[in-house]
Amino acid sequence: MPSRTIALGVLASGRGSNLQALLDAIAEGRLAAKVAIVISDRSDAQAPERARAAGIPAVTLSPRAFPTREEYDAQVVKLLGDVGVEVVVLAGYLRIVTTVLLRAFPDRVINIHPSLLPAFRGLHAQRQALEYGVKITGCTVHFVSEEVDSGAIILQAAVPILGDDTEATLSERILEEEHRLLPQALQLYAEGRLTIQGRRVVITPNAHALH
Ligand code: GRF
Repeated sequence: MPSRTIALGVLASGRGSNLQALLDAIAEGRLAAKVAIVISDRSDAQAPERARAAGIPAVTLSPRAFPTREEYDAQVVKLLGDVGVEVVVLAGYLRIVTTVLLRAFPDRVINIHPSLLPAFRGLHAQRQALEYGVKITGCTVHFVSEEVDSGAIILQAAVPILGDDTEATLSERILEEEHRLLPQALQLYAEGRLTIQGRRVVITPNAHALH
């Protein structure tokens, strides 16, 4: 199926390794997209530096400058709209988004979460998995809905928990899968192969694979 080039807006609060995975996938021709803007809520985030290194505009918006979450998100929506963003990617974004953003981009906000949802929602998902004692965890790419870490699931990848894992080693192993999964999910979007049916995301098979 032919893919369009989709304009992404990436929201990131930290290191930005998932943003980097998107930029690498685009550069290598594995993702038909461009990152039109990166927005961060934290002045110490590395993600904006990675964006600027790739020639992409990056903006840091301090939450303290806005009286409410809704007003913050209204400014985010304006910045995204100004550069023609079609899909918003939450890549390590630590703020809870409001309906102001979700209604401006209906079924077009995508998040990556480091667990197999619906297990271990919220912060420190890797630590939660270790403490619970599960033997398998992983990561999930999903559409964002109004309830945190609950939207329709696009892709998941499983990662085993090893006997000597620490939060750091497990997070690192999950991250490798995140870096593979997030570009793959966005490429499926670009190819028009994702359909939301109720809670489920149906993935249309690749036309080439049918022959
Ligand atoms: C990732 O583990 C992601 O799943 C979670 O936050 C982390 C962000 O990492 N939401 P990075 O900033 O992309 O390196």
